[in-house]
Amino acid sequence: MIYELAKKLLFRLDAETAHDLVTRQMVRAQGITPLLSVVRRAMARQAMSRTLWGLQFENPLGIAAGFDKNAELVPMLVALGFGFIEVGTVTLRPQAGNPRPRMFRYPGREALVNRLGFNNEGATAVAERMRRYWHSVSSEAFRAHPPVFVNIGKNKEVSLEAAAENYVAAYEILAPLADAVVVNVSSPNTPSLRDLQRPEQLAQILSALREARSRARFERPAGTHPIIVKIAPDLDRAQLAEVCDVAVRMADGLTATNTTIDKARLEMDFVEAGGISGYPLFELSTAILREARRLVGSEYPLIGVGGVMGSREAMAKLEAGANLVQGYTGLIYRGPAFARDVVRGLSVGGVR
Ligand SMILES: Cc1cc2nc3c(=O)[nH]c(=O)nc-3n(C[C@H](O)[C@H](O)[C@H](O)COP(=O)(O)O)c2cc1C
Repeated sequence: MIYELAKKLLFRLDAETAHDLVTRQMVRAQGITPLLSVVRRAMARQAMSRTLWGLQFENPLGIAAGFDKNAELVPMLVALGFGFIEVGTVTLRPQAGNPRPRMFRYPGREALVNRLGFNNEGATAVAERMRRYWHSVSSEAFRAHPPVFVNIGKNKEVSLEAAAENYVAAYEILAPLADAVVVNVSSPNTPSLRDLQRPEQLAQILSALREARSRARFERPAGTHPIIVKIAPDLDRAQLAEVCDVAVRMADGLTATNTTIDKARLEMDFVEAGGISGYPLFELSTAILREARRLVGSEYPLIGVGGVMGSREAMAKLEAGANLVQGYTGLIYRGPAFARDVVRGLSVGGVR
């Protein structure tokens, strides 16, 4: 009810302005510890735990990359009931991203279009914030805490040939403070980034990252420090097969999918340039997930993301082969009870 009212007001603002406003309020609210406890209790957890990569997930729903690019909101996102948090995309050096406006709502379709272009504070600033965060939780909570993933990307000005080096430099700064690293080679808003999904390029990046992992000194105690690849929904069958082949040999999991550039999905006369997320992405991203599951076999970890607006879609992702699920646009349209409602629905069998 309250969110419906807040949403009416927020939706009058430019989408990114509203996001910035909500971020500032969440940062302020999470500084008030008793308030955080109240939120946690209101979101009372349902047991749907699982273990993957040696990490404990209290429930399978994570917040997808892009909502908390700079790791400012982790305590609040945990309190809202997400089973894991993915921060980023973070690049080695800070970036301003594309000119505003660059984020757009399509409420009739429960969709967003964004062309943010990896606006973020850079690896060093985000690592520092993550370090402060881990210090702020007690050593007990440190172990039991929902896993925090960091999603890394390439700086815009870096050529494809120099991409591996750029990813490794970001990895070296951020990976020690994260439970898992997601390699973003699928954002449509950095020119040519998606070419890094080609098998030779992807293999080169993954090989360099694996080497970096073997040298790294991790500050987080748990887990096997997986390297996960996030793919686009716009790959054709042959391309998907190539990506899966490389991933199975060289990565520890796949996230399917990022936003789509297929404007026809929105069924509107005019669609802004950028990546489409939300309900119109559901079918496409789930089809890619299902095909990926067929290609990688039953044991390989997959994360399903794209168009999860409620527990029905989350259940469909699990049924299509996902071990874990994520959402972003659902949080914008359904509000702060999004994670609680999805997890509740899943625990009773996928009814919204
Ligand atoms: C405004 C916005 C910003 C995003 N930024 C990133 C990002 O920085 N890195 C990334 O890997 N995905 C990013 N995404 C994609 C989401 O993580 C997710 O893959 C996609 O939105 C599909 O999920 P959804 O339909 O639940 O939103 C972004 C999505 C939105 C809507």
